[in-house]
Amino acid sequence: MILVTGATGNIGSALLKELRGTGAGGPLRGLTRDAARAVFPAGVEAVEGDLARAASLKPALDGVRSLFLVSRVGPDAEILDAALRAGVEHVVLVSSITVLTHPRLGPAAENLAVERLLQDSGMAWTILRPTQFASNALWWAGAIRGGETIRVPYADIGLPTIHPADIASVARAALTEPGRRGRTYALTGPERITARQQVETLAELLGRELPFTEISRAEAHRDLAAFMGDETADAVLDVTGGDVNDELLLVRDTVSRITGAPARTFRQWASENAATFR
Ligand SMILES: NC(=O)c1ccc[n+]([C@@H]2O[C@H](COP(=O)([O-])OP(=O)(O)OC[C@H]3O[C@@H](n4cnc5c(N)ncnc54)[C@H](OP(=O)(O)O)[C@@H]3O)[C@@H](O)[C@H]2O)c1
Repeated sequence: MILVTGATGNIGSALLKELRGTGAGGPLRGLTRDAARAVFPAGVEAVEGDLARAASLKPALDGVRSLFLVSRVGPDAEILDAALRAGVEHVVLVSSITVLTHPRLGPAAENLAVERLLQDSGMAWTILRPTQFASNALWWAGAIRGGETIRVPYADIGLPTIHPADIASVARAALTEPGRRGRTYALTGPERITARQQVETLAELLGRELPFTEISRAEAHRDLAAFMGDETADAVLDVTGGDVNDELLLVRDTVSRITGAPARTFRQWASENAATFR
C-alpha cells in the first residue's frame, strides 16, 4: 500500500494518476483533509487526515508500506514517527533545492532537518529536492482573470522552473523501481525561464496581452509578508532572484535520466493549465 500526501495538490494528483496509469506499486491511498471534495483516479482510496495533527494520520497509515510525503506542511518529526510506528518501510520526501543552494535560509534549514530525521529514522528513504515549480504561476491567476496588472520582482532572472508532473514521475520511479532508495535527487526543468517570459507564454496561450510590471523587492516583500510572514517572504525573494548562485541556475538532467523522457517545459505546464487563467 502506498499513501500519497498532498494528494489533491500539484505533485500528488499527478503522482496518483501516474501510479494508477502504470499499475505499479499496488493499492493506493490519497490523503486529504476533505474526502468529499477530493477527486482521485478510479481505484484510489481517499482517506482523511490532517498533517498538522500527526495523531489523525493513524487510520491513513494503517497497512501502508511506502509513503510519499510533502515536507513542512505539518510537524514532520511527528509524522515520520507515526509512519515508523505504523510499519512504513520507505518514505519518498519532497524537500527543496534550497537545502543545496541557500542552506542559511530558515525554510531550507527546516527542510535539511527533516531530511536528516528521515535518514536517521530507520526507514528507507529517497529525497527529492526540486527547484521552483511552474505551478507557482498560479499566484498570478487571480490578477490575470481579473484583468489586473501582474506585479513581479526580479522579472528577468531566469530559473530552471520544474513541471510538478516531473517531480511526480521521479517520485513514481522512487516508489516503484529498485535502486532508488538511499538517494537524494536535485530536480530542475529543462531550461531557465524568467517571470517575464512566463507571462509572455501565458499571454500567447490566452491570446491576449497581459499587463505586467516589475516591482521592487520592498513592494514584493510587503505583499508576500502579509500572508506568509517576514522570514518566509525574504526567503522566497532570495530564491526567486534576490540571491541567485550557480547551483540555483543550473539546469540538471536528473528528471530525464530517471524517467527516460525529456523534462517538461513551462510552456507545457501553461498549456495544460491555461483554462485556470481564462
Ligand atoms: N512551490 C515551490 O516552488 C516548491 C519548491 C520546492 C518544494 N516545494 C514543496 O512542495 C510541496 C507542495 O507541493 P504541491 O505544490 O504539490 O502542493 P499544493 O498543490 O500546494 O497542495 C497542497 C497539498 O497539501 C495538502 N495539505 C495542505 N495542508 C494539509 C494538512 N494540514 N493536512 C493534510 N494535507 C494538507 C492539500 O490537501 P487537502 O487540501 O486536500 O487537504 C494539498 O493536496 C511542499 O512540501 C513544498 O515545501 C514547493
